[in-house]
Amino acid sequence: MQAKRRPDRPVVLVGLMGAGKSTVGRRLAAALGTDFVDADEAIVTAAGMSIPEIFERYGEPAFRDLERRVVLRLLREAHGVIALGGGAFVDPEIRRAVRERAVSVWLRADLDTLVGRTARKPGRRPLLMRGDPREILAELMERRYPVYAEADITVDTGPGPVDRVVEEVLSRLCPADAETGR
Ligand code: S3P
Repeated sequence: MQAKRRPDRPVVLVGLMGAGKSTVGRRLAAALGTDFVDADEAIVTAAGMSIPEIFERYGEPAFRDLERRVVLRLLREAHGVIALGGGAFVDPEIRRAVRERAVSVWLRADLDTLVGRTARKPGRRPLLMRGDPREILAELMERRYPVYAEADITVDTGPGPVDRVVEEVLSRLCPADAETGR
């Protein structure tokens, strides 16, 4: 795909676990001809251990502190596309920094999609290991969707092809390109 005109600020993807932030983010960055960084991966690199290990050894508050520091650094480094972990945008300081420095895109998914996608990679998400994943995701939807709704752009994602979601994000980010077919 030809590189499109790029937003002049980093694109930050937010949404719940299983919304497809990393997959969409990687393809979006390729389409825009820019770089992609996954905040969870950057946290794992900074900590030198997996996310379940961080939760187990140091607890969720320590994870959130590290997440805040890493995400604020990624925003300062001005990458092209940044996928945030599902809880990051809920943090007021991260939200403020995203608002100031980036354009945010909420990948909004229905419960079945989230349950199906997260079930494909069990054991990687400590929050979902605390009980029934469907119940936990439903509860997180209720609590977090009003916060994700503060994102600049909302794009729905479901069981359909990822490329359709990428195209939709691109057309919302670069409406002029979509009109001219550039
Ligand atoms: C979390 C989501 C995870 C990861 C951590 C906590 C959350 O990221 O940051 O397990 O609070 O929703 P993904 O959304 O990339 O799975």
